[in-house]
Amino acid sequence: MKATVFIGGGRITGALLAGLRLTGYKIPIIVHDRHASKLRQLRKRYDVISEPDLHRAVAQAHMLIIAVRPDGVDDLLKKIGKVHCDAIAVSLAAGIPLSNLRSRLGSRTRWARVMPSPVCRSGRGLAAVTFERNMSKAARREIISFFSHVGKVLEIPEDKFDAFTVTYSSSHGYHALAALAGAAQKLGLDQKTALTAAAHALADGIVSWREGNISLDYLLREAATPGGIAATVMAIMEERGYPGIVELGLRAGIKRAGANAK
Ligand SMILES: NC(=O)c1ccc[n+]([C@@H]2O[C@H](COP(=O)([O-])OP(=O)(O)OC[C@H]3O[C@@H](n4cnc5c(N)ncnc54)[C@H](OP(=O)(O)O)[C@@H]3O)[C@@H](O)[C@H]2O)c1
Repeated sequence: MKATVFIGGGRITGALLAGLRLTGYKIPIIVHDRHASKLRQLRKRYDVISEPDLHRAVAQAHMLIIAVRPDGVDDLLKKIGKVHCDAIAVSLAAGIPLSNLRSRLGSRTRWARVMPSPVCRSGRGLAAVTFERNMSKAARREIISFFSHVGKVLEIPEDKFDAFTVTYSSSHGYHALAALAGAAQKLGLDQKTALTAAAHALADGIVSWREGNISLDYLLREAATPGGIAATVMAIMEERGYPGIVELGLRAGIKRAGANAK
């Protein structure tokens, strides 16, 4: 049997499996993880085949998805060894370049990097993908098609991967939601109303921008009448360095991703 095989049954694997089950993905899925309890849970929740033996899992892969944390990738690939694996190999590991993966599973294996979002759980994910130069067109199509089951897929050059990684994270939305709702609570709103108002401010406006064809510039001016309340709020936030703080955060993330590459 040739299956889609996940090595690592943690957070992102769980989110991808939830999204794949939602969209009726039919190809057999095998998961290997070093924790029997995680495998049991995934089997129960997502009807996957759990495989406690690493080499047996790899041997059954048509698409092999490496989903362990970046600092565990090197060890894992050493354990797998040069198995002359002809599977399509996909690494989800943030910051680890294709040059560190190339030839690790034998010279026939071709690698792609994919950066999926846990929002794929609901089928509304976004994933960046980049391929080794000599990966076949058919393999590229398969990878894009696989991740398209759970959201949008963008092919970007590898040297832009870290910038994408620090920008696309759904943590930005949750972080902004927590900050805005927290500030509103300090102004006297109860938690439920604060979260409802903040979620509308962040999510509904952005969804309507994405689904319509009105420019961001226009919408910003429409929502913030010059001299009005929203404009005053934005002006003070800009003056106190909001865009600079966002950039600072992203630059720190890029530095952290760079450390994974070593
Ligand atoms: N989480 C996200 O939103 C997200 C998004 C995009 C990309 N990614 C990437 O996806 C990868 C996984 O992230 P995650 O958040 O899902 O991590 P995670 O929750 O820690 O899951 C990884 C799982 O793999 C297991 N594992 C590690 N090494 C193993 C080995 N040699 N053999 C068998 N099992 C092993 C871990 O066990 P232990 O806990 O014992 O280590 C853990 O159960 C990372 O490289 C990350 O950069 C994550």
